[in-house]
Amino acid sequence: MKKIKIAVPATVANLVCGFDVLGMALNDPYDTMELELIDEPVINIKHTDDYGLPEAAEQNVAGVALQALIEDFGNNIGFNVTVHKNIKPGSGLGSSAAGSAGAVVAANHLLNEHFSKEDLVRFAMNGEKLATGVKHADNVAPCIYGGITLVRSVFPLDIISLAAPDLFVTVVHPQIEVKTADARQILRKEVQLKDAIKQWGNIAGLVAGILKNDIPLIGRSLEDVIIEPIRSILIPGFGVVKQMCKEAGALGGGISGSGPSIFMLGENEAIAKQVEQVMTNVYSAMGIDFKTYVTTINPQGVKILSSE
Ligand code: HSE
Repeated sequence: MKKIKIAVPATVANLVCGFDVLGMALNDPYDTMELELIDEPVINIKHTDDYGLPEAAEQNVAGVALQALIEDFGNNIGFNVTVHKNIKPGSGLGSSAAGSAGAVVAANHLLNEHFSKEDLVRFAMNGEKLATGVKHADNVAPCIYGGITLVRSVFPLDIISLAAPDLFVTVVHPQIEVKTADARQILRKEVQLKDAIKQWGNIAGLVAGILKNDIPLIGRSLEDVIIEPIRSILIPGFGVVKQMCKEAGALGGGISGSGPSIFMLGENEAIAKQVEQVMTNVYSAMGIDFKTYVTTINPQGVKILSSE
């Protein structure tokens, strides 16, 4: 096998209360990537989208992730990479994670599955470091494993694949850009004990709800008393959207990753579409351009479209 084409899912990091530790993969939107294995030590990257991302390997999330993989493989290999991005950079839907995770998953197929999934997360985190300044794994892990993942620890890596509940996800992406690095910069460095207690109760409740498929417990646990009160200031309409979506039947939801996208979980497609209508009404009334998605949780992560 020399060439491969893959679809790489968008991801929702944090899942409200699990800052930097929880994430889930979506069925829509997704990027496509093509990788070709070559026998010279170079990484050539070409973007066929219009986002103007850097193509030099050392400035590209796929490039730095592949570089880490090649160093570990220790052979005279390289890759030609073509990326078609549909996940808009700065959307909060794991755009940079898709680039780095997709690249290493595809490369690993071309290398006959030489590396473990955990190795791939380790390589892909170099892309997150380049994009956000921090090696967090809550987007790359679900992108690679599929479903909902828990990153119990980054150093050393400890990833637990939880489940892919049969829930609908509605996303609105107001067309403003929030840089993850900025959205991390504004966070407080200290947390009050009473807030920490609420937060870890919610994280534990959410994980238990996901594992037991206890939908009301999932809903009750989607509460964030630490990050959301600060970050939501960057997202116009956040409070109104959240409240109205819940009134329309959403289980709960919040900021997707570092924003500005907002996601809501729903028990069925009818609710998910009602929630989409609420999001549409709010942002139309505010005169802010937006894009919506009604989708489901992606159980498999990166998908191979073709190989030769
Ligand atoms: N956990 C990260 C953050 C995800 O919220 O900053 C960034 O997409």
